[in-house]
Amino acid sequence: MSNHSSRPELADKSADIAVYDTIYVGFPVWWYIAPKIINSFLESYDFSGKKIILFATSGGSGFGKAVENLKPSAPNAEIIEGKVNPSIKDI
Ligand SMILES: Cc1cc2nc3c(=O)[nH]c(=O)nc-3n(C[C@H](O)[C@H](O)[C@H](O)COP(=O)(O)O)c2cc1C
Repeated sequence: MSNHSSRPELADKSADIAVYDTIYVGFPVWWYIAPKIINSFLESYDFSGKKIILFATSGGSGFGKAVENLKPSAPNAEIIEGKVNPSIKDI
């Protein structure tokens, strides 16, 4: 996590992203950003023209720099800051 250029390898790259217009991506906040494997995921597919809604769990902090840190990994997508620690009422 201290090496911002690290990109942990995905075990599977066969998600059928092309059939979706909106994709929800959830992750735990680690050191005020998303785990680096989320960058790996966004960089492994073509999200051009798609809407990506981020949500996260955390121990108490907000997104921190997670959203701005993920945007360059899917530069042609619309990345939307969703909720941190959403409750069932948010769905
Ligand atoms: C390495 C690491 C770094 C973390 N950094 C943060 C943080 O910056 N802010 C925060 O609120 N919680 C932080 N947490 C807490 C996690 O966000 C929290 O445990 C997780 O969202 C809840 O999922 P879990 O129940 O699977 O652990 C961190 C946890 C770990 C393991």
